[in-house]
Amino acid sequence: MATVEDTEVRRQAPEVFRYYELAKKREWQVRDMPWDELPPIPESSGAKDKQARRRDIWRSVITQQLQADSLAVEMAAQLLELARHQEAKLYYSTMAQDEARHVEAWLRLIEAAGGPTERDPHLDKLAQIFLGLDELEEKVLLMQVFFERMIIPRFRLIARASRGTVLEDLCNRLTIDDGIHHGSGMAYEKVLLRTASKSTKEKMLKGASKMLPIFAEHVLWRPKERDFVSSSMRSRDLARVRREIEEGIKIAASLGLDVSDIEYTIPS
Ligand SMILES: [Fe+2]
Ligand SMILES: [Fe+2]
Repeated sequence: MATVEDTEVRRQAPEVFRYYELAKKREWQVRDMPWDELPPIPESSGAKDKQARRRDIWRSVITQQLQADSLAVEMAAQLLELARHQEAKLYYSTMAQDEARHVEAWLRLIEAAGGPTERDPHLDKLAQIFLGLDELEEKVLLMQVFFERMIIPRFRLIARASRGTVLEDLCNRLTIDDGIHHGSGMAYEKVLLRTASKSTKEKMLKGASKMLPIFAEHVLWRPKERDFVSSSMRSRDLARVRREIEEGIKIAASLGLDVSDIEYTIPS
């Protein structure tokens, strides 16, 4: 039976409850994906070795996303456990399911594409930072406000390069899901910041300064399969990652955080 205190707690974060309802409405299943109708990844023509090289590039793209979503499962489970509001716990129960479903889809896709390739070492470093944070406010900021927002343009890029494939279908689904994940994080962070102490806010900004350059390295990283990137591609990538980080910082500022305390350098 719900007590008066329970109801009180529930009333504290109605803006997060809306994301719970939205997540339930947008929920999908791996079996809804066009596994039998479309090729898993773009098919290329030409010489055998050229075909194999193209395939390796797609395998490395998928491996990186599989690695990112496996980390997201652990993060979502931590958020579910740490959340202090009933509505937020309900919401995170859906996010944990989303991230596990993303892993399921990537696992099937990597199998269909020929198996995984090398891990991204920068993503492993990001995972250590995210999972090691001790405050809920910091985890929500780094994971949902920054990471899940800054990752969305990647899905759009991959989708645009893989028209008519299962990979494109999955990236379109993830664009929507991570839009919800980011939106809910913004909503919950606003609730948490109402009562956050000065030292918690300082920790959050310090965490962001530590995370952003590693995020940049993760985005710019090329495994050996994609190591042929030319210098013009590299400068385009750099400009893009800079825009994404600036956008992330603007969003953090919109929460009322003093982002002038965030210091970071982007690799060149
Ligand atoms: Fe995900
Ligand atoms: Fe996510």
